[in-house]
Amino acid sequence: MALDNALRWLTDHERHSIDRTIEWLRIPSISTDPAYQSDVRKAGEWATGQLRASGLDAELMETGEPEGTGHPIVVAKTPNAADASAGPHVLFYGHYDVQPTDPDELWESPAFEPVIKPAVENGPGERIVARGACDDKGQVMMFLEALRAWKETGDEPAGGVRFTVMLEGEEESGSVNLGRFLERHADRFKDCDICLISDTGMLGRGKPAITYGVRGLCYTEVTLHGPDQDLHSGLWGGRCPNPNTELVKVLSGLWDENRRVTVPGFYDAVREIEPGEREAWKKLGVDQIAALKAIGLPPEADVGEDGFTSVEREWARPTCEINGIVGGYTGAGAKTVIPTHATAKVSFRLVADQDPDAIRESFFAWLGDRTPAGCRWEFTDHGGGVPATVSTESPYLDAARRAIKSAAGVEPALIKSGGSIPVAGMLKQRLGLETIFMGFGLEDDRVHSPNEKFELDCFRLGTKSHAAMIDELRRM
Ligand code: BES
Ligand code: MN
Ligand code: MN
Repeated sequence: MALDNALRWLTDHERHSIDRTIEWLRIPSISTDPAYQSDVRKAGEWATGQLRASGLDAELMETGEPEGTGHPIVVAKTPNAADASAGPHVLFYGHYDVQPTDPDELWESPAFEPVIKPAVENGPGERIVARGACDDKGQVMMFLEALRAWKETGDEPAGGVRFTVMLEGEEESGSVNLGRFLERHADRFKDCDICLISDTGMLGRGKPAITYGVRGLCYTEVTLHGPDQDLHSGLWGGRCPNPNTELVKVLSGLWDENRRVTVPGFYDAVREIEPGEREAWKKLGVDQIAALKAIGLPPEADVGEDGFTSVEREWARPTCEINGIVGGYTGAGAKTVIPTHATAKVSFRLVADQDPDAIRESFFAWLGDRTPAGCRWEFTDHGGGVPATVSTESPYLDAARRAIKSAAGVEPALIKSGGSIPVAGMLKQRLGLETIFMGFGLEDDRVHSPNEKFELDCFRLGTKSHAAMIDELRRM
């Protein structure tokens, strides 16, 4: 059988699959930092080569306004992509850019010198440690290796399934050029039937999952300006506003005593959790107390919006977070000063059907209504993305279910995630396209943190699941 041959190829060539993954992980494709611009492109070129080796027509396409100012997007298609008689047309999406590595001193080995570490008893399994190992190069590689397996063991690229592949180079910096790119090149995507993404997690080791919703994001930066020069806090303290003090006073009003966000209208568009969902999520047996323990917190740290469980809060409720605050003297020792300004990076995680633009406007208006006497605001928009809740009733989701079941031996759970993947909402809004999130990360993979890792068992399960998914799609 064709699938058996592809699966055998994956087992026999695993060493090479991992070596290729490591080669890609060596390229420091940090999209947010201009110093790495050429490395980001290099990582895109590398993936283009991999797709070509699996028989796809692949190119690196420019983004940005003017074109070429953004990071490039890898676009590839199987030779039969335009042949509507050849079955479903699948859009595979992934991203090849990664988060910055700081704080570097906390890495056990350099972020871009991948190492394979042995399993730890009662700890993580054998794993690749490097920035991007899980998010998202390692997960994209599972799909690329499945493509390779089908190419090597059959006579058609991707086993004859019609694929368009899109690998973004700036997902980690807000996908700022993706919307315009999708508009400009809509003809390449509008014929797709479904989007497939491997950039999410599982419920736990040996507990594969399909994610049917991700939250949206609205990311802002707000600066409160006061005096036009730093001041001696003895001579001026008590005589004029201190931007640090005034900023935290205003921001502390963002939540009420039930930890609900106080910005007017914030919850207006929130889709309520369906009773069936509530029950289904309870049955998943997610252990919040154990999860807290793993990050060094006691049970009483299980806090959040009143009236919802931790799973409900992560998957289906919006939040507001202060990601960073700077202002005044932050060096060693003491310096008595009233600073000219203070800045906070404030973001909102959003759920269906909240609109990031509307939330940003009402947040800025809320701040405007609370401008501290004698001060002035400066607002910056850092983008984000719309939330995406996707249909759980589609033949493609059933196909993904069967594929994972055949690879893992157990039925995947249906879960949601609190993270954000901007492309999914864009595809749904612009092209009416649904997404299947078939991801293989673990909660302790340390994505975005030092010592990011991807366990080889997850990598194996992912490559097999993708190979089996290709087989399922061939039959549709
Ligand atoms: N892959 C993650 C999102 C994710 C992680 C979803 C785990 C589900 C489970 C993605 O790369 C990411 O980090 N997204 C950013 C979005 C952003 C920078 C616009 C996020 O969620 O903060
Ligand atoms: Mn990701
Ligand atoms: Mn990420």
